Amino acid sequence: MNLFRRKSIEALQMEAAGDHGLKRALGPVNLTLLGVGAIIGTGIFVLTGTVAAQNAGPAVVLSFVFAGVASVFAALCYSEFAALVPIAGSAYTYGYATLGELFGWIIGWDLILEYALSATTVAIGWSGYVVSFLGKTLGIHIPAAFAAARGLCVGPDLSAIAATAGATCASMPGGPYTTAIFNMPAVIIVALVTALLVVGIKESANLNNVIVFIKVAVVIIFIALAAGHVAPENWHPFIPPNEGARDAFGFTGVVAGAGVVFFAYIGFDSVSTAAQEAKNPQRDMPIGIITSLLICTVLYIIVAAIATGVVPYRELNVPDPIALVADRAGLGWIAGLIKVGAIAGLSSVILVQLYGQSRVFFAMSNDGLLPPVVAKVHPKFRTPWITQIIVGIAVAIPAGFMTVREAGSLVSIGTLLAFAIVSAGVLVLRIREPNLKRPFKTPFVWFVAPMGVLSSAYLMYYLPWKTWERLIIWLVIGMVVYFAYGIRKSKLAA
Ligand code: ALA
Repeated sequence: MNLFRRKSIEALQMEAAGDHGLKRALGPVNLTLLGVGAIIGTGIFVLTGTVAAQNAGPAVVLSFVFAGVASVFAALCYSEFAALVPIAGSAYTYGYATLGELFGWIIGWDLILEYALSATTVAIGWSGYVVSFLGKTLGIHIPAAFAAARGLCVGPDLSAIAATAGATCASMPGGPYTTAIFNMPAVIIVALVTALLVVGIKESANLNNVIVFIKVAVVIIFIALAAGHVAPENWHPFIPPNEGARDAFGFTGVVAGAGVVFFAYIGFDSVSTAAQEAKNPQRDMPIGIITSLLICTVLYIIVAAIATGVVPYRELNVPDPIALVADRAGLGWIAGLIKVGAIAGLSSVILVQLYGQSRVFFAMSNDGLLPPVVAKVHPKFRTPWITQIIVGIAVAIPAGFMTVREAGSLVSIGTLLAFAIVSAGVLVLRIREPNLKRPFKTPFVWFVAPMGVLSSAYLMYYLPWKTWERLIIWLVIGMVVYFAYGIRKSKLAA
């Protein structure tokens, strides 16, 4: 039994060029927008404030730079693969082709953490914004019991907190608190987006373009209007002194903050899952991946600088920090607009992540590692509809019951692992098959690829042990599934 059997690059390229039933509808602009749609979300709208207040102070700007640099290394490596092997499976396919089936499977399994679980995380964030917008702006109140993760205590202002040890929500000071049963809006948004994806990729891409336009416009309006209200004294001290814990201020706080805001960059790689629906993937994959990442990096750094320049960093620890900054800058009217932009923006992140997950499963099923039904394409819509619905259900259940924190940290570690393996894979393939015709070559590969591995590993190192434990358990379950099914059913086993 050969655990390291590989698909040949030539076979993959033929598979990419062949008729796989999916519709080739996306050009470079659509692909870039798909990337921006996946990237701008909870990270910039929520985590900027959290990290400034708890980890890095105004130097959250540096956290964004560090996380952005790690992402750029990985993006350059992803681009080489995405142009060489334009197959929907993304990192899974690249791992399969370079490091063999066992690694391919491990990455595919690990990508479930990145795609499905981040859709879960963002759906939970979406719910928070929607509940606040409906309640505070429109006066429509969602019953607290159905507005947060199971077991959380929801307060009169809709803030959701955990009960302290031994206490019930009802007995918590500062109440009255209601015990949440499940997060209904989070489940509803996943169901809606799933229905849209079943109907078709072109329709989904069109809607995505409109949403991306709205959220980028909101971010740019924010930058243009709030910039004039920066008080430079708020940037001093730029890196507040360390307060004892490794992740609270000081340089280590900035790096720990980078691990958290890394979440904000996740998504550029989902462009590569659209490879089989791209009109000219060899040229357009690198364009989509790199352009979308660069656009977001620039916007993030400017937004973080403005947010910490307008409001003292300690006051930014709220669920809607960007709306708060607009409010403080005397731009109250745009705070509402920002909430609407954030709600729309988070929806498109969910859309791209759910899309990416179904395409990775599609590729795994085509290889025989998952049952054939997973790759069934709908005769009319030409989408892998059964998979899309299964993914929707699998994402909606934890969205109803988990907290953002639980889900989000697992997403980060899973994604960083995939980035590290892809970066290593580029180098392995350069050594093993130096003469392959590569439509896009990672520049300075002997520097960029090792740095991709090291920077991802560095950020992983700063994540809590609990998160590592969950990652290991998840990978062990994956091994059981592989040895029970994929190893025998793999097309390469025939
Ligand atoms: N980058 C995406 C976000 O920040 C996952 O929501």
